[in-house]
Amino acid sequence: MTGNAILAVTAARLGIFLGACAVVGLCVFLVCYSLTKRLKVTEIFADVKGTERTAGYARIGLISDLHFPMFEAGKARVAAALEKADVDAVAVAGDLCQNGNGVEEMLEFMRFLAAELHDKTIFVVPGNHDVHHVCAEKEEKIAEYCAKIAACGENIHVLRNNIERLPVEGLGISLVVCGFDEMTVSNADAQRALFERAAAETGENDRLVLLMHNPDIMASIKEAVENSNTGSLALAGHTHGGQVYMPFNLEFRLLRHDVLPKEGYVYGKYDYCGNNVLYITCGLGQSFLPIRLGTVPEVAVVNF
Ligand SMILES: [Fe+2]
Repeated sequence: MTGNAILAVTAARLGIFLGACAVVGLCVFLVCYSLTKRLKVTEIFADVKGTERTAGYARIGLISDLHFPMFEAGKARVAAALEKADVDAVAVAGDLCQNGNGVEEMLEFMRFLAAELHDKTIFVVPGNHDVHHVCAEKEEKIAEYCAKIAACGENIHVLRNNIERLPVEGLGISLVVCGFDEMTVSNADAQRALFERAAAETGENDRLVLLMHNPDIMASIKEAVENSNTGSLALAGHTHGGQVYMPFNLEFRLLRHDVLPKEGYVYGKYDYCGNNVLYITCGLGQSFLPIRLGTVPEVAVVNF
């Protein structure tokens, strides 16, 4: 075989190899993309020590990390899932938009959700993607953005280091909902003070819900939580459950600064500081790339 013939064969083999890689890569991408279009409903029972359940459970629908416009889970499907679950309240744990993109589409969804679930209170806290696009220093811009979300329906309550009380029909109890502001525009002292005030306001017939975007707030208030006799349910998002699975928790060990995910708190239900249950949802949308691997968009129904 001549030199030119050998070169031609090598080039052909390389071409076949690269073509095969491209086909495999495209197939993997399509499979990962198809996972963003799925939706699962997860039922969780959060039994916090010291909290009587004889009256029954309150049901909280938890959604998070919508990341409009990278939201493929289906607006009508999400609303229908929450409606079918017959929840007492809905909690939205932040990152409704993608760094300031998709805001109009997100507001349209929130208006739709508020109308579909008109008899339910929808609590919302902001996430890092909600506040960073308007710059953390510009408080009035963040307030304006949150006011637009709140204006989507009278039943939408945006909480930024606020506490609200919601009576649960038929159970004779109230949820004390403590909504934390995004941690990068708040601070540990404010978070601790908020938790202590909420715990003090939680009576015998109340159940304390801590709603936050980044579960690291639990690390910030850990001492206060440990010293409190009031059990709580903490609801968070932010991690996307990894979004694209990496073995050995590599994403959080090597690529991210978050504290609790490095310790293994990435997705699911955890006992935290003995007297508290923490649930981290993997969220509904995607960030950076429109793909998922190892998780699919989730509506979590937390019985508490
Ligand atoms: Fe997110």
